[in-house]
Amino acid sequence: MIGIYFSGTGNSKYCIEKFLQEYDSGAEAFSIENEELLIKIREHEDLVFSYPVQFSNLPKIVKDFVDQHHQLWKNKRVFVIATMGLFSGDGAGLLARMLHQHGAVITGGLHLKMPDSISDEKALKRSIEKNRHLVADAGKKAAEAAYKTKNGTPPQEGIGPFYHLAGLFGQRLYFYNRTKHYTDQLKINTHKCTGCGLCAAVCPMKNITLVDGRAKSGNQCTMCYRCINRCPRQAITLLGKRVVEQCRIENYL
Ligand SMILES: Cc1cc2nc3c(=O)[nH]c(=O)nc-3n(C[C@H](O)[C@H](O)[C@H](O)COP(=O)(O)O)c2cc1C
Ligand code: SF4
Ligand code: SF4
Repeated sequence: MIGIYFSGTGNSKYCIEKFLQEYDSGAEAFSIENEELLIKIREHEDLVFSYPVQFSNLPKIVKDFVDQHHQLWKNKRVFVIATMGLFSGDGAGLLARMLHQHGAVITGGLHLKMPDSISDEKALKRSIEKNRHLVADAGKKAAEAAYKTKNGTPPQEGIGPFYHLAGLFGQRLYFYNRTKHYTDQLKINTHKCTGCGLCAAVCPMKNITLVDGRAKSGNQCTMCYRCINRCPRQAITLLGKRVVEQCRIENYL
């Protein structure tokens, strides 16, 4: 087995690593940003995927990755992990249905509640203690799911028609436009920005460039919140007006 993940602040990476440690300690997880990944996928029949839910939908970068490489999924056996701050309905089912259409066999799904990566909305913030508990619980749940999968009884969270309806009416229909395209809504405060270039270096979409010594955003943002959570000057926002607390998995281990 190999792991495939996309992760803005490290939650989905952490969860897939916990799953793989229990399932097969020699198995590796690769980000969809890793150039080696396509070769690795061709070499393995058993896959586990992990990604964050965005507005009860898939991040655009994940959708595009799966579609662009549609020929890779036929006959693969795939277990799907969706991480989320609160609720997603069919977080795992979203990718499961796409992969099934491309010929994959879905073995199961798992939903893991983690710290919310949206760092510029105060209402979504929890205490560090609460986030530490969430991460510890998710790690245990991922290991249990791996154990069950190994023993032929994988969990089926997010898979099937009941979850599909919960996802659709939970919030996906309402927020559908937010994840349909990449966005141009990222805001960079040029008075705060020192031009250090960290945001541009970490962006999976190469959406940020340095112009005249200041960061500038384009229209290809996949809303992963990585740059927002890493900027040393808290100069970047997307959904809210001010960065409340920069969240990264390392803060909660
Ligand atoms: C743009 C955006 C939208 C989100 N929408 C949801 C949502 O609909 N439901 C939810 O439970 N969490 C939502 N979240 C929270 C993330 O899914 C959650 O924090 C996830 O674990 C982040 O994982 P990562 O660090 O691997 O990117 C959203 C996060 C972002 C950045
Ligand atoms: S990380 Fe922050 S300070 Fe550094 S270039 Fe980007 S916006 Fe400016
Ligand atoms: S601009 Fe920031 S939030 Fe958008 S994709 Fe790049 S790193 Fe992620």
